[in-house]
Amino acid sequence: MTVRFLLASAALAGALALSGPVAAQSDPLAPTARWSVPERAQGRTPPMGWNSWNAFRTEVDEAKVLGAAKVLVDSGLAKLGYTYVNIDDGWWLKRRQPDGRLEIRTAIFPSAQAEGKDSSFRPYTDTLHRMGLKAGIYTDVGRNACSQAYDLHSPNLPEGTTAEREVGLLGHVDQDIGLYFGEWGFDYIKVDACGINVYGPGTELVRKHAYTAVPPLIDQGAINYTDVARVKALYAEVAQALKAHNPDGDYILALCNWGSANVRAWGKDVGHMWRTSGDITPTWTRMLHNFDSASTRPLYAQPGAWNDPDILFVGHGEFDQNHLTEARSHFALWAMINAPLLISYDLRQVPQSLMEIWGDADVVRINQDPGGHQAVIAYASDDVQILVKTLSNGKKAVALFNRGLGKVEVTLTAEQLKFASDAPIQLRDLWDKSTAAPFTGETTFTLEPRQTRIFEASGQRRLTDGVYLSEIPGAVNVAVDGVIAPEPDPVVHRMRNAWGETRGSGERPTYAGWGGAQADATPYDQALRIGGQGFDSGIGVLTNSRLEVRSAGYRHFEARVGIDDSTRNIRDKAIFYVYGDGKLLAQSGPVSFGDPPRPLAADIAGARIVEIVVRSPSLSSDLPLVVTWGDAALRR
Ligand code: GLA
Repeated sequence: MTVRFLLASAALAGALALSGPVAAQSDPLAPTARWSVPERAQGRTPPMGWNSWNAFRTEVDEAKVLGAAKVLVDSGLAKLGYTYVNIDDGWWLKRRQPDGRLEIRTAIFPSAQAEGKDSSFRPYTDTLHRMGLKAGIYTDVGRNACSQAYDLHSPNLPEGTTAEREVGLLGHVDQDIGLYFGEWGFDYIKVDACGINVYGPGTELVRKHAYTAVPPLIDQGAINYTDVARVKALYAEVAQALKAHNPDGDYILALCNWGSANVRAWGKDVGHMWRTSGDITPTWTRMLHNFDSASTRPLYAQPGAWNDPDILFVGHGEFDQNHLTEARSHFALWAMINAPLLISYDLRQVPQSLMEIWGDADVVRINQDPGGHQAVIAYASDDVQILVKTLSNGKKAVALFNRGLGKVEVTLTAEQLKFASDAPIQLRDLWDKSTAAPFTGETTFTLEPRQTRIFEASGQRRLTDGVYLSEIPGAVNVAVDGVIAPEPDPVVHRMRNAWGETRGSGERPTYAGWGGAQADATPYDQALRIGGQGFDSGIGVLTNSRLEVRSAGYRHFEARVGIDDSTRNIRDKAIFYVYGDGKLLAQSGPVSFGDPPRPLAADIAGARIVEIVVRSPSLSSDLPLVVTWGDAALRR
């Protein structure tokens, strides 16, 4: 046993010696001394605005869009940050042959028509820009768009020959991006993915409508049949073209491949936002599904890169003016998890009660907090959740969320807020603006069915001279998460089929991302625990991972590290490393399952980027080795 242990340590140590420049190039765990997500000029806080889809589907037109834009400005919503006005599917007429220039359906966008000239959105985007707004457009990464598969009765489908109806980007990336951004003046683009999903060879859709077949790169039912690398490469090509046509960085790229292709892990590296799930519908349980797909991913979002659980459905169906409890919950939850806030409602005739929801300056401020720290789930259950979000004013936003149909008692504790349990805590209700008498330790509320209470909490921070990494997910970038094979994430509410049917065998977990790094939990949604000792704060991750942390002027890093008690791999060892601007500052030596937590501290003074790395150079098993950075914190 001792001999085996020594041999294993020697192997680990030997692998470590490989830290010269050659190893650094090929080793994804080697420190880079930089923040690897592009520093984006736009989307530093979650994009806000309006989108046509949930209000009008393909029956969008200029009067509807400009009507919404006018209300955004006149009502003050634009001043609150709702500035992107986005046309979704339905705007196009055809791709002209043979030059491939896209033509606009001027019957619904009359300002795009000018005698003897090519149709152009320039007059339309000029109007929006004059109003102080920004303009968004929609396309698909394949040849054909979603409406051409799913909205076949629409009056606004592309027309003409097979080639004329190929309005998507495939084969035209540079031409189209140049047109949209260079010539037409758009500021935002949503890029859908039906063109690489549902136009497969031999399908009835392709045959019946004479589309060019595109072998699907995305199989929503099987990550193993999804070509993750090619999907990512197609979107990266779009990102590249956007950069080339917008040297000032004034654009937003919204990826819309519905949580497929493991985008929940790499979306941040390619776009400003990425959908984490399929389409939202105006039903409570589908909202839960979309919410869960993003709320469980706080470490994967940061300024310039946001989890997108989809456009808001406030105002419709189970979130309409007769369901204001549900509507407020939906909005507050999106605010807490830093979701883009895109209203999708016919604003030309809108009840005041809905305007008050979108227009709640306090709830919007929580979403737009410059720190960009997505809320972390402080209390998890299928009935009730407590979410806590660190604000840059030193306070916390906290949401108490009753997911179910019964009244429920919810106790909020100082620990959940990471506040001292012996000092007073004050809660300000962000909906009704009342401030309750301070409490110490804990306080209890009764929540109505489906109600979300949302507060701004002030108290004494538990770490008076620092911050836990799990409190600042926007300052932590998961560069390498150690996931070897993408697996579907089961911690997403599984509603009855989004379109209300119960045929087939049911709703199975779909979105890869299971095993990704977590704040205050393990990658498999267990409480953090090392050698029998629990941690309510920390980062849970797999071995062979590298996380980048913005040190924000702190001088010390500390953690108690080890193999998590929940790991399935109980044989292999791991070594924990801390780097400051690429320089090794501390390491743990090999740790094994069952070892007590090992203290690891580093002086990070002067370093801009701290990297925390865990390595297991030779694994004897392919079972995941779960490791925990217990109480990982930056201190003064
Ligand atoms: C997909 C997207 C939606 C919307 C429609 C348009 O379903 O996910 O958000 O853009 O296409 O057809």
